[in-house]
Amino acid sequence: MHLLASPAGLPRPSSRSSSRFSFRSNLSLRQTGSKAGGHLTKASRSVTVSAMSAISAVVMLALFLTSSPLLAQTSLSAASLKGALAPYDLRVEYLTNPLGVDTPQPRFFWKNRHSERGQSQTAFELIVSSSPSADTGDLWESGKMSGDSSIQIVYGGKPLASNRTYYWKLRIYDSEDKASPWSEVARFDTGLLSPSDWKGQWIGSDGLLRREFTLPEEPRRARAYIAGLGYYELHLNGRRVGNHVLDPGWTDYKKRVLYATYDVTRLLRQGKNVIGVMLGQGWYKSRALMFELYIEDASGKVTEIHSDTSWQTAPGPILEDSIYNGETYDARLEQPGWDRPDFAAAAGWHQASAVEAPGGVLSSQMMPAIQVIETIVPLTMTNPAPGVYVFDLGQNLSGWAQLRVSGPAGTDIRLRFSELLYDNGLINQENLRSARAEDHYILRGDGATEVWEPRFTYHGFRYIEVTGFPGTPRLDSLRGRVVHTAVSPAGNFSASTQILNDIQHLILWGQKTNLHSIPTDCCQRDERMGWMGDAQVTAEEAMMNYDMAAFYTNFLRNIRDEQAADGSITDTVPHIWGQRPADPAWGTAYPLIAWYMYQNYGDRRLIEDYYDSLKKYVEFLRSKAENGLLKYSYYGDWVAIEKCPGSLVSTFYYYYDTKVLADMARLINKTAEAQAYDKLAGDIKAAFNREFFDPKTRSYGPTQTANALPLFIGLATDKERGPAWSELFNDLVYEHDSHLTTGIIGTKYILDVLTSTGNSDLAYDILTRTDFPSYGYMLKNGATTLWEIWQKREGPSMNSHNHPMLGSIGAWFYRALAGINIAPDSAAYKKLVIKPQMVRDLTHASGSLSTINGEVGCAWSKGDCHVKLEAVIPVGSEALIYIPVFKLRNLQLTEGGTVVFADSQLKTSLPGIKSIEAKGGNLIIQVGSGRYAFKLTGE
Ligand code: BGC
Repeated sequence: MHLLASPAGLPRPSSRSSSRFSFRSNLSLRQTGSKAGGHLTKASRSVTVSAMSAISAVVMLALFLTSSPLLAQTSLSAASLKGALAPYDLRVEYLTNPLGVDTPQPRFFWKNRHSERGQSQTAFELIVSSSPSADTGDLWESGKMSGDSSIQIVYGGKPLASNRTYYWKLRIYDSEDKASPWSEVARFDTGLLSPSDWKGQWIGSDGLLRREFTLPEEPRRARAYIAGLGYYELHLNGRRVGNHVLDPGWTDYKKRVLYATYDVTRLLRQGKNVIGVMLGQGWYKSRALMFELYIEDASGKVTEIHSDTSWQTAPGPILEDSIYNGETYDARLEQPGWDRPDFAAAAGWHQASAVEAPGGVLSSQMMPAIQVIETIVPLTMTNPAPGVYVFDLGQNLSGWAQLRVSGPAGTDIRLRFSELLYDNGLINQENLRSARAEDHYILRGDGATEVWEPRFTYHGFRYIEVTGFPGTPRLDSLRGRVVHTAVSPAGNFSASTQILNDIQHLILWGQKTNLHSIPTDCCQRDERMGWMGDAQVTAEEAMMNYDMAAFYTNFLRNIRDEQAADGSITDTVPHIWGQRPADPAWGTAYPLIAWYMYQNYGDRRLIEDYYDSLKKYVEFLRSKAENGLLKYSYYGDWVAIEKCPGSLVSTFYYYYDTKVLADMARLINKTAEAQAYDKLAGDIKAAFNREFFDPKTRSYGPTQTANALPLFIGLATDKERGPAWSELFNDLVYEHDSHLTTGIIGTKYILDVLTSTGNSDLAYDILTRTDFPSYGYMLKNGATTLWEIWQKREGPSMNSHNHPMLGSIGAWFYRALAGINIAPDSAAYKKLVIKPQMVRDLTHASGSLSTINGEVGCAWSKGDCHVKLEAVIPVGSEALIYIPVFKLRNLQLTEGGTVVFADSQLKTSLPGIKSIEAKGGNLIIQVGSGRYAFKLTGE
């Protein structure tokens, strides 16, 4: 039998894969680093981040590839690893060697490696010590704790003190009770655990702040804690501290202000020292600093320096800074040496004054910071009008431009940013609405090359217009700097049909460039807010493509901060725009993201901690419901082409939230509450069907979303399911020729409905369309990130060209095409169902996920009378692998070349393979951990 003509081969990466940019970025940094002068730190920062993500990508890939003859051969021989068992990737509160841990009982995480299949950890032994070299834990010795969990292990030792460094290591025991060697020593630092640890005052600033102090000797250990609003840049003795930009993360400052912790031991010296802080306004729209420096000398004596009115302040070179409008920097106003000792303060310096505190509690920023992630060299520079130069980066992104120029003092160079161009080649800023997106650099003019980039603004753009440039700029006069929260990449997906890789490119760029300490709706126009609807639809996709655990932990706390006494929450978090109470399709971000945190990362403690607040939210919805229906809705299936009634969408989420709350109650053993919410969900279901299912038309309405939502979540009973499905199918296939007419809500669920009803082929048809409305239509029209709406619009109306919300389908790539699913009765990829949808002419697809429990992968190909499938299952996990048999007969299955199944029965038992059965058009193979290479052949 001929399944497909084309031979299986390596997945072709996207033609616009991000690595292209990383590569260029590194290249450009190497070229420019030596000339970057005062900006070397920023440049090298970017190298580090790029390099780090490159390394993690390489590690991920290597882990995957070592398993996978189809993907690549490896020099790492299995024999050399025989019996090797080792914990790796040690983390605390989801982070690697974090500073500033401010949870009294932090949680530990690690992953396990084992050279044998079918292995799992059966016990662990963990010690926490105040010394890096200790073999005993003076803080905690867990003893041999039995259990197969290597995540969410709660610290159980003596109380932790503020501002300390703790060291930890562990060993694990495998299925044969063999102990691994001790792991590497990992560490974490505590933050300031009590409000009384903050001795400083909130002080204001004209732009620059400095404080000089003298140390009798070099310190043994020093930590700086800084909350600088709106944004800060910290300097010590003339050196930039750390690599955070646009820090701290955005919160409702009346409720909470985040502080960052830096290890500054090596930056301090005996004698005079100077702390320098630049403040920008950011979302706070004002400047205020809270700062603590704890310095410990060799004898253990602690010196504290904190913010107070003895600090000196003066205006700096930044004349204007605004997130939407941009930054104006006059280099003539720089004060060289202001952040170093022995600076002769010029006129303008005066004592800082105390300012009103923002009001919120100080919490440690326990998530990756926003950073310059990579640097892009423009593709082209054009000169569409006299004196006007337009640079094209070839990619829509969030960040800013780095400028290099020399010229006369006082020359004002204007940079303006846009996503779009007019036909005449000039930039089109119409869709930015009131955001001016305009930076100015005014030259120092000392003859040297001046390298500048802004600090306290960011833009969403692909094109940069330069005017006022002295002479003619060159292509390398500008670089694009990609700026977003530095979440590590966690997923890889590719497929043989190139448009899917191109859509994945849109999703990845749309997603990451909308992570700016909160998930934003867009990054270019006058919004960039934490719109909760956008956040909830993208969260699952984001959790597959990036390590989002710490990020969403922070965001959920931000949501809780906005909850009112009546349980209501808000459309945006922090709440700036939109309403209270949130549209139910927006408010659902709270319970759903919390639940996704459990499903993806096994975060049970979060559910325990948030349960009461989530229950209050569901009770709020109940208080607004009438006879089981939740009718209020502002946006409903937002940006749909065919709009479904808002009350249907709201009631769907009322049901969804209630069901999820019942599941949460069950998880944390609140059985009676679980039953009560199950009952409430049942009542909502009955009301939903009574209200929305029309017996005359035998459907939930004439839109795709109206029928997809009840099918997705099981609101439709046996009575409605068939007719609703027919309506949906007809609408998709006959009325719209395999095109979606859904908005962000319907789009999130509809592909899953198609897969669960056995119609993945149709989902594939939809995704490979290139005419309106489709993802392919965006691509055909030059999109490099996802559009906000299906229509091609470029005027002053609502049409962001970088809005991640329609990217929710990215989760379907992994679940359906790569086939990687968490089993319904499991969490955190402990139990897996690997069930790829080998649709239509797709010849291969592969996906890998760096999950909280280790690397998971699946790569398949189909060809002439055969199907190959390779899988990677982490230690401690198990999987059911489905290989479709199509119409093949006389099946034979090999694993690593050995026949394991033929003549309808098991032939050889191989390590890790527990059972194989032919059922429902598939071979279903039950496996334990390890790497497998199956090949199914037949006639
Ligand atoms: C935002 C959206 C948001 C919506 C609310 C828009 O202006 O950009 O993405 O969810 O408002 O309907």
